[in-house]
Amino acid sequence: MSVADIFETMEWGPAPESRAEADAWLDSHGRRFGHYIGGKRLAAGETFATVNPATGETLAEITQGTAEDVAQAVKAARKAHGSWAKSSDHDRARVLYAIARGLQKHARLFAVLEVLDTGKPIREARDIDVAQAARHFYHHAGHAELRGETHPDAEPWGVCGQIVPWNFPLLMLAWKVAPALAMGNTVVLKPAEWTPLTALAFAEICDGAGVPPGVVNIVTGDGATGAALVSAEIDKLAFTGSTEVGRLLRRETAGRGIGLTLELGGKSPYLVFEDADIDGAVEGLVDAIWFNGGQVCCAGSRLLVQEGIAEDVTARLRARMARIRVGNPLDKSVDMGALVHTEQKARIEAILERTTGKIHRGAAPDGCYLPPVLVTDLHSADPLMQEEVFGPVLAMTTFRTPAEAVQLANDTTYGLAASIWSQDIDVALDTAPKIDAGVVWVNGTNMLDAAAPFGGLKESGFGREGGTAGLAAYLRPGTGAPLKAPKVYAGDAAPSAEIDRTAKLYIGGKQARPDGGYTRTVFGPKGAVGDVGIANRKDLRNAVEAARGATGWSRSTGHLRAQILYYIAENLCARASEFEARLAAQGAKDRVETATRHLFRWAAWADKHDGRTLGVPMGGLALALNRPIGVIGAFAAEETPLTALAQVLGAALATGNRLVLVAPESAPLTATDLYQVLDTSDVPSGVVNILTGAHGDLAAEMAGHLGVDAVWSFSSADISATIEAGAAADLKRTWVNNGTGRDWLATDGTVWLAQSTEVQTIWVPFGL
Ligand code: NAI
Repeated sequence: MSVADIFETMEWGPAPESRAEADAWLDSHGRRFGHYIGGKRLAAGETFATVNPATGETLAEITQGTAEDVAQAVKAARKAHGSWAKSSDHDRARVLYAIARGLQKHARLFAVLEVLDTGKPIREARDIDVAQAARHFYHHAGHAELRGETHPDAEPWGVCGQIVPWNFPLLMLAWKVAPALAMGNTVVLKPAEWTPLTALAFAEICDGAGVPPGVVNIVTGDGATGAALVSAEIDKLAFTGSTEVGRLLRRETAGRGIGLTLELGGKSPYLVFEDADIDGAVEGLVDAIWFNGGQVCCAGSRLLVQEGIAEDVTARLRARMARIRVGNPLDKSVDMGALVHTEQKARIEAILERTTGKIHRGAAPDGCYLPPVLVTDLHSADPLMQEEVFGPVLAMTTFRTPAEAVQLANDTTYGLAASIWSQDIDVALDTAPKIDAGVVWVNGTNMLDAAAPFGGLKESGFGREGGTAGLAAYLRPGTGAPLKAPKVYAGDAAPSAEIDRTAKLYIGGKQARPDGGYTRTVFGPKGAVGDVGIANRKDLRNAVEAARGATGWSRSTGHLRAQILYYIAENLCARASEFEARLAAQGAKDRVETATRHLFRWAAWADKHDGRTLGVPMGGLALALNRPIGVIGAFAAEETPLTALAQVLGAALATGNRLVLVAPESAPLTATDLYQVLDTSDVPSGVVNILTGAHGDLAAEMAGHLGVDAVWSFSSADISATIEAGAAADLKRTWVNNGTGRDWLATDGTVWLAQSTEVQTIWVPFGL
């Protein structure tokens, strides 16, 4: 066969990578592994097999971690924490740098081990998993070095429990371990039971890199070991995996006062507009959905194509699918390897059997393989358009207009990633920020980098990994000193006739009587001060509906929001004596002057919480934009009630959020007096809604309401656990005080800003 013939047929021959070094490494451990705790490799205990999915062979026996093993690891991590946290930034940076170098020196061993354990093709393991893992440690060596400059007052959480999945075993380890160590935490990491080998090899890199004993601990095992880690004495939990387990972990950790970040599933849309470079978009799809056999949380698994080009796209895509090479993952010529496990293959096949769409398949060998699959003729509500498959299955439907494209793209409970393909800059950049996803790629897909925050909205979880936003997850949000709870006044006398006016609720810019018709009397040091309504679930639902409708606020400019906050401050000042009298009557210690200062501060921030451009090494530009969270439900603090209200209102509104605010229980009239201030300050209706009532009665409803995007509690009532557990329903974000009664007003402004916004990373082509 001549070279010309080869170019004509594009025939290819196998180019297998040697597995000798990986086998030698496994043999050197007798193919039996214990945990890595306190800098020591322990003897194996009760074991299970880890299997090469491409061949079915057992690669090694792995120890099933018990609760005692986990406790031992947490103890080692606790012991190591003090000196690690106190070590100099430079010393920690050197350790992280040494890990990065260690990974690079042994890159081939790690790549082959990853292939053997996961079935992913060597090209991906070599060029992405291992390369990116090293890049992550380099990048975070820098964050360690600069910590004193960038986060002078920050404190690490302490001991971090980290649970990672099987799709990117080493890379997910790097995403978790690097920022944790950089910020001065110690870790106990549990790899997935199907793919523990690279984590165990990583332990050796730690030894060689001078990681002090106990700073990194690896405990192997299945979900039961993971569950033991979750209930151990950890300070922070970071999890990547299924939404189902993520929800469970949200409930398990509720009320414990530990940090939590969840990176969960996705059903990411891949939008192709009629003016797209179709060949580019089709090639992009190969990466979007067939990279790692589609076992990728941000896989572009929902193809949305503009109607006029649907036939053309389908034809070109099917032609491309026919040439995707599925087979031996150690072969450098292979595009798609084996699936991670026969169980995963069965799971995917079961989903395919249920679909009503038309299935187009490429070719694949027998065994734990599946071909690339395209399913067409689907309605947006088809389970295949909604459920995460986590396999090489692309579900397709069409749209007519850009508005419909956005609507279909957002028609999902997930919000992890999205790709937009269009040669028209207006269409692409107009669409990108309208997609509810943590990451958006314009004319590209699956671009990831250590400097670019990655993470989801909605049921894709919360928290970011990578970049500056990712560091926040490994720093304990500072809180002020404990405060003395205010005195609660009680009495039995009714308010005097001259003040017998019941303050109503404030919903959608109007005063509303409480649905249940109940009121209560508010007392101060000199007796009854007035009556307030008691809001029930229906009132709360009405308030949420009003807030949801006020979408214009979230799209308004920072300049407008600043003006309105200044206006609120001004109107409050104009009525200072009235507010101060009312505060005094309720026995509250506070000053209008202090509240006004907070409003000014947030007015100042309204047009300054800018995003940033990120120093990513690929061609192109990654932008980190700060998006408002949406509707925030907040339970107000009792201490300095007016200032506390001004702070919550200021932070939430400055960043473009709408608010359902539950007034402080001891001084609710301070909140109800604000209605007129809001009315006269041009606050659009529905942007701020105020309820009065018992925090304990409204907490569960607020947390479980699907229209609320985040819940904050500064309440003195014991409602933090209720909020965190209730928020598991739709995995909304929470920020609660766990009854600590601290001075939240003293909390660093950057924490308030971070709690009020979501980072959305948008990757755009750029002429660098
Ligand atoms: P999984 O969520 O059960 O496993 C992920 C990790 O969590 C593993 O280390 C596992 O041992 C651990 N784990 C399981 N149950 C636990 C518990 N109760 N407490 C603490 N840790 C626990 O994911 P699985 O079963 O391997 O895959 C099922 C589906 O989840 C996939 O088909 C896919 O749809 C999705 N998935 C999503 C991932 C993502 O990156 N978003 C990663 C892996 C799976």
